[in-house]
Amino acid sequence: MDLFDVWQIRKHFPMLKKKMNGRPLVYLDTAATSQKPQCVIDAMTLFYGQEYGTVHRAIYELAAHSTEMYSNVRAKVQRFIHARQEEEIVFTRGTTEAINLVAHSFGRAFLEPGDEIIISEMEHHSNIVPWQLLAEERGLKLKFIPMDHSGELRLDVFKELLSERTKLVSVAHIANATGTINPIKEIIDLAHGAGAKVLIDGAQAASHVSLDMQALDADFYTFSGHKMYGPTGVGILYGKYALLKEMPPFMGGGDMVETVTMEKTTYQEPPLRFEAGTPSIAQVIGLGAAIDYIESVGKKKIEEWQSSLLQYATEKLEEIPGLTIVGNARRKGAIISFTLENVHSLDLGTLLGLKGIAIRTGHLCAQPTLARFGLTSLSRISFGVYSTFEEVDVVVGAIKEATLLLKPEFSY
Ligand SMILES: Cc1ncc(COP(=O)(O)O)c(C=O)c1O
Repeated sequence: MDLFDVWQIRKHFPMLKKKMNGRPLVYLDTAATSQKPQCVIDAMTLFYGQEYGTVHRAIYELAAHSTEMYSNVRAKVQRFIHARQEEEIVFTRGTTEAINLVAHSFGRAFLEPGDEIIISEMEHHSNIVPWQLLAEERGLKLKFIPMDHSGELRLDVFKELLSERTKLVSVAHIANATGTINPIKEIIDLAHGAGAKVLIDGAQAASHVSLDMQALDADFYTFSGHKMYGPTGVGILYGKYALLKEMPPFMGGGDMVETVTMEKTTYQEPPLRFEAGTPSIAQVIGLGAAIDYIESVGKKKIEEWQSSLLQYATEKLEEIPGLTIVGNARRKGAIISFTLENVHSLDLGTLLGLKGIAIRTGHLCAQPTLARFGLTSLSRISFGVYSTFEEVDVVVGAIKEATLLLKPEFSY
């Protein structure tokens, strides 16, 4: 498959030259966090070393330049997700903070006791716990869309869950444990039909699929820089401007105010209203470089490359006796979770780690998903732009070896 030269791509990522226990690092945990291309590291190093200043606060040249760079990234994100206007892009510290922002601000302002929020059974804890906290505080009802055995959402049940009390629906675009790509356009249209607003958790999707906020019509969309080849400490909350404008602040502090007296404060318009305190300036610059990187490779090519890896790896893994893939939706992101008969995922993760292979093991921050399948622990491999077919062969071989070691009755 020569969609693009993956070996050339790999040269952009310094971490991929690393040896672990004397062997080349095989990094298969991009769904947790991606490795960073040199251009992202360079953009942040240059900023810290040559250009660093605060934003929105001072008149001197460095501060003015930093403010300009910071604002340019907002415009870049707007283009990247095809939002209607820059003011719809709020910088947060990650997906988790973005979801909490909506829960605190939108939730407290617009939800009344007895109102209902619908989430799904396949959410990351970040898209469960904030709603539980809010529901407890405001006397709301939390409902769940179940999934079928393949890991697809039961839209028939979703339709029945929707009612005139439903005020918000919050679901993942791509589920981090099963890899399911949800039919979010259909979910958004159904929710809107019932008068509810919709938040889409795009943490696993932003680096993987093309995004168009205007076509999608989501009310909120969230993602994290560190999962899309950018730095930690920065994320995005997209919100329709009319909604953001009606929402009260999330946190109070510098930058989000217009005037402050000892008696009363007036607030900035969005997005600054939601960006209290000195923001993650260098991380925002790094995110801008990550978007440039993704666009220079081409999102469509990334998606196709990762899909072909997914297909190849699925076939190879399915050949391993005792291995069961959890999550067989018709449309999947570059994520494969599995169990191995009589082998605990933590033992597998430890053995693979000794060979320099990084996979995710445990509850994957999705305990309700695991519970749905009667599990408490899973192994997960996930791919990035830099992953190769050779790495799939290495991990498949290592899993086979591990099963032999941990369960000697298997033979090949
Ligand atoms: C689907 C999903 N939502 C939310 C998050 C939380 O992202 P962060 O930890 O960057 O805030 C993750 C991270 O793994 C995720 O996969």
